[in-house]
Amino acid sequence: MDHFTHKSGVLHAEDVPLPAIADAVGTPVYVYSLATLQRHARVFREGLSALINPLIVFAVKANPNLAVLRVLQGEGFGADVVSGGELRRALAAGMAPDKIVFSGVGKTRAELELGLDTGIAQFNIESREEGIELAALAHARGEHARAALRINPDVDAGTHEKISTGKADNKFGVPLHHAADVFADLAGLPGLALEGLALHIGSQLGTLEPLETAFTKIGELLRMLREQGHTISRVDLGGGLGVPYKAGEAFPSPADYGAMVARVTAGWDVQLVFEPGRVIAGNAGVLLTRVIRVKDGLSAPFVIVDAAMNDLARPALYGAWHDFESVAETSERQVANIVGPICETGDTFARDRDCPKLAAGDLAVFRTAGAYGATMASSYNSRGFVPEVLVSGDRFAVVADRIDAGAIMDAERVPDWLS
Ligand code: LLP
Repeated sequence: MDHFTHKSGVLHAEDVPLPAIADAVGTPVYVYSLATLQRHARVFREGLSALINPLIVFAVKANPNLAVLRVLQGEGFGADVVSGGELRRALAAGMAPDKIVFSGVGKTRAELELGLDTGIAQFNIESREEGIELAALAHARGEHARAALRINPDVDAGTHEKISTGKADNKFGVPLHHAADVFADLAGLPGLALEGLALHIGSQLGTLEPLETAFTKIGELLRMLREQGHTISRVDLGGGLGVPYKAGEAFPSPADYGAMVARVTAGWDVQLVFEPGRVIAGNAGVLLTRVIRVKDGLSAPFVIVDAAMNDLARPALYGAWHDFESVAETSERQVANIVGPICETGDTFARDRDCPKLAAGDLAVFRTAGAYGATMASSYNSRGFVPEVLVSGDRFAVVADRIDAGAIMDAERVPDWLS
């Protein structure tokens, strides 16, 4: 459930009519709902209520905006970070270091050092090589880095191939059949407190079965490692729960997920860690855009909006669907192509889409844009970076400024020797 609804014929974010935001901030603009973020965080936590003391860390990559992170910090969430930049954001938002998990297949030496400086809860080590490097760095400081070994369980998550991470040929984690060896080697290193296992098999999962298969495999590994005398006190089950992008689509709920987790992990006797991203932020945001003009097309008109693939990359990258809705309620419909102004055909949000009939100047939204939206923006075609707004009740605040093309150009130089 979200808080983007039509009231008196106008789409609102909570109690704010979206035209008020368009007037004040311009378009395109991402709009987030505080009440929706909070609701999703609470529903996720309640779904895990059968578990003892789970640690929930928001996958910062889904929406790294400081205000969004602050909302989730207020809900007791920590952060799953994958870069030094994300780690700094989590800290700036007030996340406690002992609720920060550092994931990622290519952490640099500087990033490992930053994690050590910060005293984070857990490094999720993705390879023997990374474990050896982290152990040496920590040992040189007279410290023990708290770590979990990320396992690649070779499970097909059944999602888009570009966001599938748990198949044997993906770059992530240590293959299951090497896991016991690598774990034993790394656990013996001074400088490493290796007491956990981690996995994440992919994003936007539509069913729980692949997760259950992967968790079961990790459970078997956990038993085997304990039989070999290792201590395992934490298992990080990653993120991945999918969300509806089309009105009416059904997805497993956090309660279904939590019940499956409780069943599969019964008797594990570990602290479980969760890294949800999309399920918290996805439906808490929309991308508000204005129609520039409508152009005749061969079989259907082109509705040209002022948002483009640089602002919301998912349709161009993954062929992703985002519901497209008029801000002013209308019953008139048409079949149209919804496109941005960028100079490539990939800048197409929807082809032959049954959608509201819109004219130049009308406002519309792409829904489910709160996760992997603004954070994946670029300045392609020198369009600048899209701003972000957070709504709470009847107030709103700009939580990320529009960075216009001029500001980006200001960071560039023409060297003297070219003139
Ligand atoms: N943990 C790890 C280690 C991850 O790699 C990810 C996402 C998550 C947690 C959060 O997954 P979620 O709960 O959001 O599914 N840009 C793509 C999604 C990439 C996801 C990458 N990893 C998209 O727009 O669909």
